[in-house]
Amino acid sequence: MESSEQPQPHVRKGLSVDEYEPKSMSRAEFQLLPRNSQKRVMKKELWENRAEEYKEKQRQKNRDIKRRRKERVRQGEAAPRRKPEDQTRTAHRIVIDMDFDEKMNDKEISSICAQVQRCYAANRQALKYVGLHVTKLHERCRQRFDSALEQHAGWSTEHVVLEDKEYVDVFDKNELVYLTADSPNVIEDLDPKKVYVIGGLVDKNRYPRLTLDKAEAQGIQHAQLPIGLYVQMASRKVMTVNQIFEMLLRFIDVGDWKTAFTEVIPTRKL
Ligand SMILES: C[S@@+](CC[C@H](N)C(=O)[O-])C[C@H]1O[C@@H](n2cnc3c(N)ncnc32)[C@H](O)[C@@H]1O
Repeated sequence: MESSEQPQPHVRKGLSVDEYEPKSMSRAEFQLLPRNSQKRVMKKELWENRAEEYKEKQRQKNRDIKRRRKERVRQGEAAPRRKPEDQTRTAHRIVIDMDFDEKMNDKEISSICAQVQRCYAANRQALKYVGLHVTKLHERCRQRFDSALEQHAGWSTEHVVLEDKEYVDVFDKNELVYLTADSPNVIEDLDPKKVYVIGGLVDKNRYPRLTLDKAEAQGIQHAQLPIGLYVQMASRKVMTVNQIFEMLLRFIDVGDWKTAFTEVIPTRKL
């Protein structure tokens, strides 16, 4: 919910207390109140009315999303939602490091939050799902999650854990591997004993080496995915957070990088 979409106390221009029909008391009781109290009651009731209208609008929006999704599933354009009992939890753990708030403008903050949401949805849908940790959430992203993406309140903690802490305070440093396109090391396999970190950043290549420098400063391992070994890229091999996450999920599921890359990388990039 955007803050600009918040319901505002709405008093119809020209609506005076003399013509107002109160909801919480009779007209006679209302008329006995001092003028200021009448105005306060009228404003409060109109506000409540607006808030209820707004909530109903939101409920209708959600119903429409569900209905459209059902329709897409019926037409074979979307996969049916996976039931928790059809999924298997693997030992793999993946972190999205959100400690980059101040490096992004508002549009990029919305974009990174939407990408995290897609990661959650992919984990919720995968046959084999991983332990997904979103660490060091700062104020702007938290606000975005709490407002525009308010459905995150219903996220299953089995499929995502939101942490205020930095990943080095959650996991053993020796287990951590920072994934970054700038690393000279190339990953061959995913070790379930390791924790793979993805930089939660949308930067349009403004900050090359940012995550590599961070990993080096923290003294943790780093590596890039073996994209160039399996597919020919039309541009640089820097992917978005959700693309990297989806590639990891697909690799864990099928055990084959080529499939993981070709399924996830948009064809225009190949
Ligand atoms: C948009 S990129 C951010 C690029 C940023 N300049 C940086 O220093 O990482 C988002 C994240 O996706 C991951 N990523 C992107 N491409 C990758 C690749 N080819 N190999 C490994 N990780 C990659 C990295 O974790 C990266 O931080």
